[in-house]
Amino acid sequence: MCGIIGYSGRLSENLNGESSVDIVLNGLKSLEYRGYDSSGVAYYDESEKKIKSVKKSGKLANLKTEFGCIGPVKSNIAIGHIRWATHGKPTDDNAHPHLDCSGNIAIVHNGIIENYAVLKNKLINKGHRFITPTDSEVIVHLIEDYINSEGKTFLEAVRLASLELSGAFAFLALNAEEKSIAAVKYGPPLVMVNKDKDIYFASDVSPLIQYSDEVIYLKNSEIAYFKGGILKLTDFQGKTISKTITKIDWDASTAVKTGFSHFMQKEIFEQPSRLLDAFSSRIVSVNGGCGGEAGKDDFSSGFKIMLEDIKLAKKDIDKADRIIITACGSSYYTGLVIKYITETLCGIPVLVEYGSEFRYENFPVSENDIFIGISQSGETADTNSALEIARDKNAGILSITNVPGSQITTMSDKGVIYTHAGPEIGVASTKAFTTQIMCGLLLALRIRELKGTVTAAKGAGGGKINKISGGKIFDEIVGLPKKAEQILFLNDSIKEIAKKYYKNTNFLYLGRGILYPIALEGALKLKEISYIHAEGYPAGEMKHGPIALVDENMPVLFLLSNNMIAPKTISNIEEIKARGGKVIVVADYEPEIDGISDLIKIPATSEVLSPILYTIPLQLLAYHIAALKGTDIDQPRNLAKSVTVE
Ligand code: AGP
Repeated sequence: MCGIIGYSGRLSENLNGESSVDIVLNGLKSLEYRGYDSSGVAYYDESEKKIKSVKKSGKLANLKTEFGCIGPVKSNIAIGHIRWATHGKPTDDNAHPHLDCSGNIAIVHNGIIENYAVLKNKLINKGHRFITPTDSEVIVHLIEDYINSEGKTFLEAVRLASLELSGAFAFLALNAEEKSIAAVKYGPPLVMVNKDKDIYFASDVSPLIQYSDEVIYLKNSEIAYFKGGILKLTDFQGKTISKTITKIDWDASTAVKTGFSHFMQKEIFEQPSRLLDAFSSRIVSVNGGCGGEAGKDDFSSGFKIMLEDIKLAKKDIDKADRIIITACGSSYYTGLVIKYITETLCGIPVLVEYGSEFRYENFPVSENDIFIGISQSGETADTNSALEIARDKNAGILSITNVPGSQITTMSDKGVIYTHAGPEIGVASTKAFTTQIMCGLLLALRIRELKGTVTAAKGAGGGKINKISGGKIFDEIVGLPKKAEQILFLNDSIKEIAKKYYKNTNFLYLGRGILYPIALEGALKLKEISYIHAEGYPAGEMKHGPIALVDENMPVLFLLSNNMIAPKTISNIEEIKARGGKVIVVADYEPEIDGISDLIKIPATSEVLSPILYTIPLQLLAYHIAALKGTDIDQPRNLAKSVTVE
C-alpha cells in the first residue's frame, strides 16, 4: 500500500554512472508488489537547477516510458512514490510527488492525513495554491508555510509540520535549495541505508538489500535529515537521537522470480525450504527424539524447543488464564489454527480477534493476558493498533512476523518469532502463511514445556480427534519439508483440475476442526487472485444456510482428514452430491466415496501439522485458476501487500 523511496549521494562516483532517477526507478520496481495504481518521481535537475517531477497513472512501465522520452538525467537527489489511491482518483495529477507553490520542495507520502481538510482551508486562506484533492498535498504546503511565514529552517519546518498532522504518515521531503532530504515516520514504515556518503530511504527493505544488509528502521515520531553527506536524526521534539543498525539476512536474489512465471508461484514452491528454515535451529532432538504420550510428563522428553528470543517465563504462563491472538486476513486464519493447536497441546483457552475490529470493541484486557500479534509485514495498522491497546493495559506481547525491525517487533516486550520466510513479493500470502503456522506450533510446544504437566486435551472435543504424541510431532516436523515437496509434485494434476473449474463464478470450501481455517484460507486465495467469489465454511455449518447455494454450478471443495470426524464430513459430501454440486476432495487417505469429481491425495501427518500440508494444494489450485483466467496474479486489482492505514 503506497511505497516511498529516496536517494541522495555522490553523482559522479555512483556505480555505473547511474543518476538518482535510475536508483529511484529501480527502487520503485522493488516496491511494486506493495500494490499501487500510479507512480511518480521528483528529482533535482543539475542542468536546470530546479526540481522536476514526472507522474503517471497506471503501471510503473508508463512512468519509465515517460523518462525514456526525457532521456538521460543529471541528478544526485530524487524521491519516488507508488500510490494506492485513497483521497482522489488514480490520475497523473494526483500521483505523488506533490510540490509547494514555489516548486522548491517536493514530498512523497505513505499514509492518511486525517486533519487535511482543516489544514488545507487554513493554508488556502493564507494564499497557498492546491492542485489536487489529495490529503498528501497539504504536507508540502504546510512545510512551505513554516518556512515563509515563520522564517523556520527546512528541518524545523518539517518537524513543526509533522507535529500538526494527525493520522498516519511516513513521508520524504526534498528541498531543492539545500539539496537535502528529510524523512519522517509516524505510523507507516520507513527504513534507510546510510553508506559512505550516500543515503537510501524506502518503505521496506526490498529495494535496499542490493546496497547493504545493514539498515536503520525509523521509529514513530522520528526524523532523519540528510544534507551534504551528513545524516542528522531527531525526534519530533527536536532532540538528537541515535539509532541502532539492524542486520537483514535476506539475500537480494530471493527478490527475483528465477525462472518462475510469477512470484506467487515461486513462493509456493519455496515452501519446503522455508519451512525447514522456520524450525531447523529451533527444535533439537534429545534422547533420540522419543517423546511420550499426551497426558504424561514426558510429552516433550524427545526434543527441546529453542526459541531464544522469547522472554516468556513460567510465571507468565501460570498467571495467564487465556491467550489473545490478533491479526488480519491470512494471518488471522493462522491465528485460528494456532488457537486449535494451543488449546490442544497446552489446555489454555485462546481467543482470536480481528485487528480491524478489536480497537472498536470493548474487549476487557488484563495485565495477566498474553497477546500474540501475527503479521507477515509487521506493519499492518489494524493489527498493531490492537497491540497498542494491549500494551497500554500492560498485557504481555509476543509476535510472529516475517520482517525484522518492523513496527510489530518494537511492541513485542515478550519477544518475536521470525518466520524466516524471506521476502514475500506476491500480494497473496503463501510461504508466510505456512511458516507462521510452523512458528505457532513451536510456540505452543514451548508454552507446554514451560507449563510443565499438561493433562491430555479433554475439552469440549474430549481429545477424541487424534492421539497426540510428542515424539510423533517431533518426527513429523522434521519430515514435513519432504511431504510438502511431494505435494508440489501434484502441480500438473492440480493444473488439470483448474482447467475444469476456472470458468465457474462461485466456490465453496469446507473443512472441520483444525482444517476449517484452511477452508477460509483456500477461499481467500481463490478470490484474491482469480476474482472468483469463494466462501470458506465449517463443513457442519453448511446445512445451516450455504447449502441453499448448491447446484450443478457450485463446486465444493472439502478438506478431509482420516480421523474420527471423517464420517461426519463424508455425510456432508453426500449432501452436496445429492443436490448436484461438484465435489473436489483434498484428503490424506483414499476415502471410499462414490461420485466425487476430483480427489487430491496428500501425505498424512500429525493433526497439528496438517493445516500446512492441506494449504499447499489450495494455493496451487488458486494459482492455476488465476493463471488460466489471465489475472494479475502478483498484484491483484485493488489489493495492497502491506495495509499500513486503517
Ligand atoms: C493474504 O493473502 C492477504 N494479502 C492479506 O489478507 C494479508 O494476510 C493481511 O493483509 C495481513 O497482512 P500481514 O500478515 O502483513 O499483517
